[in-house]
Amino acid sequence: MIIAGSISGTSIDGIDVAVAELTGIETGAITLRPIHAATYPWSDGIRDRLLAALPPGSCDAGELCELDVRCGQEIGAAISLAVRAAGVAADLIVSHGQTIFHWVRPTGVAMGCIQLGQPAYIVQATGLPVVSDLRNRDIAAGGQGAPLAGTMDGLLLRSLPAGSALLNLGGIANVTVLQGDSVLAFDTGPANCLIDLAVQARTGQAYDRDGFLAATGTVDILALTGLLNDPYFSLEPPKSTGREHFDREYVAAHLAGLSPLSDADLVATLTEFTAVTVADSLRPFGIRQLYASGGGAQNPAMLARIEHHLGAPVSTTAALGLDPDTKEGYLMALLGYLTWYGVPGVLSGMTGSATPRVLGRISPGDQPLRLPEPAEPPTRLTVT
Ligand SMILES: Nc1ncnc2c1ncn2[C@@H]1O[C@H](COP(=O)(O)OP(=O)(O)O)[C@@H](O)[C@H]1O
Ligand SMILES: [Mg+2]
Repeated sequence: MIIAGSISGTSIDGIDVAVAELTGIETGAITLRPIHAATYPWSDGIRDRLLAALPPGSCDAGELCELDVRCGQEIGAAISLAVRAAGVAADLIVSHGQTIFHWVRPTGVAMGCIQLGQPAYIVQATGLPVVSDLRNRDIAAGGQGAPLAGTMDGLLLRSLPAGSALLNLGGIANVTVLQGDSVLAFDTGPANCLIDLAVQARTGQAYDRDGFLAATGTVDILALTGLLNDPYFSLEPPKSTGREHFDREYVAAHLAGLSPLSDADLVATLTEFTAVTVADSLRPFGIRQLYASGGGAQNPAMLARIEHHLGAPVSTTAALGLDPDTKEGYLMALLGYLTWYGVPGVLSGMTGSATPRVLGRISPGDQPLRLPEPAEPPTRLTVT
């Protein structure tokens, strides 16, 4: 079937949409054929309001309602454009939406999360059934609800040499590793979110394009030590985090009392912070090859520092046939495919829940909802 998957990540840089043909679930071996992917920027007003609503900001119920509707309308419009550009007739839409809050107790127990983007407006725009709210079922079952990349990554890792791992560098960084036969997926900490905030405050640019500032600055060891002084890094995986924790006050709070850093030194230090926390998180798993995706995979300074600290080669998921920039959209399409066929979208233990769960909610499209016969969990994924 043809599925359009969409997500806006913690960077809130835009709505990623990926249109794919997914086949083979009845046989246990899924084939994913990427057809078209694009990113549509949030309108300025909405992006600013989303940022203002994120912790340490807040929003009232009226603003939350309006943002939910506006996000749904913008996501619906983006998906319609992408499906039209793909030149195919889609059967199913998957919308992750925009995470506005990921509620995790300081002990590491995940309690809930809210993604904005009212699916009724996505049905309104497309006429198609929409799978949404992909995380809360896993959280209710005792899992972290994040990262969900482990489902796709686990299938990919099974056909790669032992010692391989996947890394996504969005606002937050997450990794997937195999531990014996089980898949483990967890957030290592920030990837780009703190760097973006620093670059925006210091230079007015959106991000450290191609890692230019990071490459010209010098890491400040005292500042790095201050940043690493955070209980999140001592929690055992599986664990998850978000911008509620790594918020716009994080850097100032952790560097209080230290001498101010130049723009380049601050960005170099924050980039090193990402690299060290990614490599430290992966060290127990003896990784020999890492495949990166997400916007951070376009930052050569970040990849070089991860490679340095990990002591193993880092390439991108392009080597696996998945464009690093669009991988998460295809992940959403895959998760929706699993839900449509009644197949769990998280594996046992992957994010901490004891039993696998079918993820999400399905909003009917213009036609009555007719679900296929449930399938068995797949054992293989091929990207063509
Ligand atoms: N050319 C680039 N150089 C450095 N960083 C980049 C580049 N392109 C994207 N990024 C970083 O990637 C981020 C977006 O990554 P993305 O994977 O979309 O994250 P999310 O899933 O959180 O939306 C940007 O905010 C920026 O920090
Ligand atoms: Mg993004």
